Amino acid sequence: MSDTSASPAPPADDLEPQRHAPSTGRIRWRDSEAWRSVFRHPHLDTPRGRALQSFSNVFLHVYPVKVPARVLKNRYSWRLGFIATVLFTILLVTGVYLMFFYTPTVTSAYGDMQRLRTGVGFGQLVRNVHRWAAHLMVLVVIVHLARVFFAGAYKRPRQFNWVIGVGLLAITLGFSFTGYLLPWDQLSYWAVTVGTNLVSYVPLLGAALRDLLIGGEQIGQATLQRFYALHVAVLPVSLAVLLLVHIWRVRKDGFAVRRGDAGSFAEAASDPGAGVIVPPTTPANADAPRVRLLGVVDQESVTAAEHPADDTVFTWPHLLVRHVVVALGTVAVVLGLGVAFAAPLRAIADPSHTPEPAKAPWYFVGLQELLSKFDPLVAGILVPAGVFIILLALPYVDRNPATEARRRKVAITLFTIMLVTAVTLTIIGALFRGPGWKFIPPWQHSYLEL
Ligand code: HEM
Repeated sequence: MSDTSASPAPPADDLEPQRHAPSTGRIRWRDSEAWRSVFRHPHLDTPRGRALQSFSNVFLHVYPVKVPARVLKNRYSWRLGFIATVLFTILLVTGVYLMFFYTPTVTSAYGDMQRLRTGVGFGQLVRNVHRWAAHLMVLVVIVHLARVFFAGAYKRPRQFNWVIGVGLLAITLGFSFTGYLLPWDQLSYWAVTVGTNLVSYVPLLGAALRDLLIGGEQIGQATLQRFYALHVAVLPVSLAVLLLVHIWRVRKDGFAVRRGDAGSFAEAASDPGAGVIVPPTTPANADAPRVRLLGVVDQESVTAAEHPADDTVFTWPHLLVRHVVVALGTVAVVLGLGVAFAAPLRAIADPSHTPEPAKAPWYFVGLQELLSKFDPLVAGILVPAGVFIILLALPYVDRNPATEARRRKVAITLFTIMLVTAVTLTIIGALFRGPGWKFIPPWQHSYLEL
């Protein structure tokens, strides 16, 4: 007679021996057919189990199974790129909700904004969160760029990822700028007028470009429709695609730059294939005296076997837990801002009445400050185009392999001068300018526009 009370013996290569443990009478939902049809991976707290969990889960699969331990330190990246990714996700979710209640026509856009305040569940809060997340994203992306620069993380093999990053910055600015027009109030109308007028100063192509962007002589229905299409379709798709490539390359380039030595550049510099392992054509010891094998010894008698130290840790749970905490913190901050401060909504757009001062959004107000001093071609076109060209060329022009600040004095000094100039111009334009672009300290009257 067979013993029916005994549990079946686990298969030899079973990854989940506990599934075959004698039943305690409790129903384990993780063993149910439904659960296992969704999560195919075994739930085992062993290195192999964790690896399988990552391989077989589409979301965990975005991450490598293991990452260098230094990635866990906050000072590796201050998590700025990750925070920007979370902000982008918040913008997508809140943006879709706003789309439910918004029609991009000059006759209805402003009314839709007013209805969000009172007639739509959580309408005002979602609009506030969307607006503050957008401002924060511009800020975080700029600080991320500066952090990457100061860490020397744009050097080989990461040059092209820096270039992709510059593309992401341009798209982020485009996102905020096109979104600025959508409420169709005085603030948005005149800020976009200031911005689009600059395009006319592009040599030769200025008039054609401005016409393409705003769809006529003046900002109107065609402009609103174009900005809306760019804002909800073209830019999100472009940003998502570039971001995928960006994060994929962060992974392929081995995450953090190592500190204290010449970093990944040094590794790559000694390897002409930059990451590709090329078998040597000549043995490394070609000139060394010849050595003959005289005998084979037991493994036990080998006393000096060297194992390279494994500095990697499992992504799940170590990195993932940190990312969840940072994501929740980011959500809390934008929610807090959304509850505390309402997104502005001025009077309906009026092309016949120019508000004083008509300020561009804060991230363009530094340019507006320059425009008040220099020729529009210089301040509005040559300076911003020059900055973008310098940023794009930087990793190819800066041939110094060092990543530590004390060995990169020239690059760090020049970049710091550029950054401090941009920040100073932005602060003056945003806080110290009033009607007629006159100097008015913020403690007398604040003309800050957000
Ligand atoms: C939408 C904007 C952006 C997003 C969402 C983003 C996202 C990320 C993420 C998630 C990382 C991994 C490390 C981290 O969490 O910080 C990263 C790293 C990196 N980013 Fe960005 N990024 C953006 C813009 C930029 C810009 C503007 C630049 C520079 C021009 C840039 C250059 C880089 C480089 C070179 C790395 C690798 C750094 C390293 O390995 O230490 N990114 N980015």
